[in-house]
Amino acid sequence: MQLSTKHLLGIRDLNREDIGLILSTALQFKDVLQRPVKKVPSLRDVTIVNLFYENSTRTRISFELAEKRLSADTINFTASGSSVSKGETLLDTVNNILSMKVDMVVMRHSASGAPHFLAKHIPAAIVNAGDGINEHPTQGLLDALSITQALGTLEGVRVAIIGDIMHSRVAMSNIYLLKKMGAEVMVAGPPTLIPPYIQEAFGVKVEYSVKEALQWCDVANVLRIQLERQNQPLFSSLREYNLVYGVTRKLVDNLKKDIVILHPGPINRGVELDSDVADSRHSLILQQVENGVAVRMAVLYLLAGKD
Ligand code: CP
Repeated sequence: MQLSTKHLLGIRDLNREDIGLILSTALQFKDVLQRPVKKVPSLRDVTIVNLFYENSTRTRISFELAEKRLSADTINFTASGSSVSKGETLLDTVNNILSMKVDMVVMRHSASGAPHFLAKHIPAAIVNAGDGINEHPTQGLLDALSITQALGTLEGVRVAIIGDIMHSRVAMSNIYLLKKMGAEVMVAGPPTLIPPYIQEAFGVKVEYSVKEALQWCDVANVLRIQLERQNQPLFSSLREYNLVYGVTRKLVDNLKKDIVILHPGPINRGVELDSDVADSRHSLILQQVENGVAVRMAVLYLLAGKD
């Protein structure tokens, strides 16, 4: 089986079969990652550049590790310290790198649509590692794999995405993926951080009480407040945010049911998520990170197989 797309620009462009194929391939790579030799020769002749124009810990390391586990040749580019500071354009930078016989591009950029722009101008396959407030498709996929492993399915599962929905590419990729795969989706948080059109445009429920959202859901995907993308105050203080919209120990302890907690990281402990909830038996946060390597191996492997 093959993916229906040449690039992974967003979950929006994938169909159910693509998502199923990536998740089932990721499960096979999870097995590889349990072996003493955690490496396969699948991408031995492939060279991949990781272009990071925006900060990252998990995604950058995860892609690099996935590439090494697939035996690809890997080069890493970060905008800071590069000729971007001398005025070089995105397209010039990428064309110069591609002229050194690079086959695939993994890119994170603060501008929404940057990988879509690149896809129109270069021949190489592109994987979006997060573009502005648009999408973070491999995060959506690794979240889906983590939910499936915990609950056995995505079909009919109730997922509440809680926090800064307005500025979150993780929220967008999760919404596209979960709706395509038959999950029920709610977004919850302060009205100032939830786009007013979201219910009608994306068919999700909207809830302004985090307590109600937690009571409704099977899975809570808690998001960081993206202060770096906010150019005006949208809530009074981080302390007030934690009191009113934080996923606290008290709220989780008072639930009369079990719940799964996800967070894409980085966590602002004590703001959107209490530390002892992040580290509790409910939390799949480190499993998400572990699953990220297998998911990214699957994406790179499947895209390399497309001509
Ligand atoms: N989840 C995520 O994208 O984390 P990084 O910003 O550290 O890559």
